[in-house]
Amino acid sequence: MWRAVILLLAATPVSSHAWAADPPPGAVTCSGCHGEGGMVAITGRNAEELTATMEAFRSGARPATLMNRLVRGFTPDEVRAISAWLSEQRS
Ligand code: HEC
Repeated sequence: MWRAVILLLAATPVSSHAWAADPPPGAVTCSGCHGEGGMVAITGRNAEELTATMEAFRSGARPATLMNRLVRGFTPDEVRAISAWLSEQRS
């Protein structure tokens, strides 16, 4: 029993817990427009889908007025971190 718990803890990246409490760099800027800012809410969504949408903005596959420029301010790793954090937020 304890063995299983320890294995589970070991398999969970420590940083994913940090995200739940501390937003990764850039994540708080999103709410300036999304959710409270009046744009479509982006919290509580599937993290993979959020990442895919952001990368589609980056590549231009998804037309955008400003998200295409905004996403280029982040590395793919940062986009993943922001998506994971946002997916855990409830608003
Ligand atoms: C300055 C305002 C602004 C900020 C800041 C902003 N967005 Fe956006 N977002 C938009 C607009 C406007 C759109 C619609 C697409 C477009 O025209 O660029 C959009 C669209 C999106 C969409 C697609 C939503 C859908 O389902 O149609 C996602 C996902 C998204 N933004 C994520 C983010 C994330 C993550 C951040 C923070 C890193 C962020 N946005 C910051 C304005 C903003």
